[in-house]
Amino acid sequence: MKGKILLTGGAGYIGAVLLKKLLHCGYKVKVFDNLLFGEVSIKPYINKIGITKKDIRKISKNDLININTVIHQAGLSNDPMAEFDPKANFEINTLGTIRLAKLCKEFGIKRFTFASSASIYNRGILKRTRVQKEDGIVKPKAPYSVSKYKAETELLKMADANFAPIIFRQGTVYGYSPRMRYDLVVNTMLKTALDKGKIYVFCGGVQWRPLVDVEDVATAHIKAIEIPEKKLTGQIVNLFYDNYRVLEVAHKVKAVVERETKKTIKIIVDHSPKKDRSYRISNTKVEKLLRWRPKISIETSVKNMLKQIKFNKMEDFSNPRYYNINWIKQVGRKL
Ligand SMILES: NC(=O)c1ccc[n+]([C@@H]2O[C@H](COP(=O)([O-])OP(=O)(O)OC[C@H]3O[C@@H](n4cnc5c(N)ncnc54)[C@H](O)[C@@H]3O)[C@@H](O)[C@H]2O)c1
Repeated sequence: MKGKILLTGGAGYIGAVLLKKLLHCGYKVKVFDNLLFGEVSIKPYINKIGITKKDIRKISKNDLININTVIHQAGLSNDPMAEFDPKANFEINTLGTIRLAKLCKEFGIKRFTFASSASIYNRGILKRTRVQKEDGIVKPKAPYSVSKYKAETELLKMADANFAPIIFRQGTVYGYSPRMRYDLVVNTMLKTALDKGKIYVFCGGVQWRPLVDVEDVATAHIKAIEIPEKKLTGQIVNLFYDNYRVLEVAHKVKAVVERETKKTIKIIVDHSPKKDRSYRISNTKVEKLLRWRPKISIETSVKNMLKQIKFNKMEDFSNPRYYNINWIKQVGRKL
């Protein structure tokens, strides 16, 4: 029988998709999540899984009983949330990760995957954008990417024969999840296309972004726990489908929405401000290590989202639950 997985952040956008896939693969799963955005996404599985509603900053040995693998997705998951409360962000994303990893090591839990972020590579829109590899020097500045980078650094220091972390630097994610987010670039474009018939592009759309579908992210984490750990221990791996300029993304989303809905979508390009994230990264390592690479294109994902958000009645686009920072501010939930 397959082992029991602790899936932190299992009620989140990526976590909810991972949860479904893990159960489908026959894993037993315990979700560890403080349910910042509620539990709607895990409700269908409530009888099949264990759930610990708790803050990662307070995780303890008892939470790891009978667990043999950890997939760590929990955390504040974008720049606006990190900037809203930088102290909480550091405590959750960096110290929470270190605390969890130390407990795993102490408890003999070897397999560990970590959801880091490709935003660590950001060099700013005004710098020449070269393709960056996992072993290059990075100098993140924003609280969110700094918190992820510091967590990575500590995980790498802990890696040894008894603790085998693998770190995925995930590109910005797109696609349908039962815990839907419309605050991610492709999903935002789809939302405004449907809601307003327009797609808004800032900074002329010249900025580069590595992007990846949420199903592919989930698959990568599962592959990473199934491949012999010798190959993966202490590896940092970029995880994305391709690098795109934001304007190119807008045209892709527009084409699919126009084809599928027969409506005309206008792209509105603003050439200011000149401040945005921009980075291009290399995708050779993931294929070498996992013998697999992300497969789901923006076009396929947008087509699927159109179907799913209609079917699941997620067209109440102004609902704050789809936007992490709006939700935190409106609900007034303390981080
Ligand atoms: N979505 C992306 O584009 C993207 C890109 C790169 C990296 N990541 C990383 O992947 C992970 C998952 O992202 P997501 O898009 O699913 O985010 P999300 O915000 O939808 O989900 C995060 C989950 O973590 C939980 N959580 C937050 N703080 C917690 C705490 N203190 N204790 C316990 N649980 C807590 C939340 O309740 C939520 O269910 C995050 O670590 C994020 O930083 C996401």
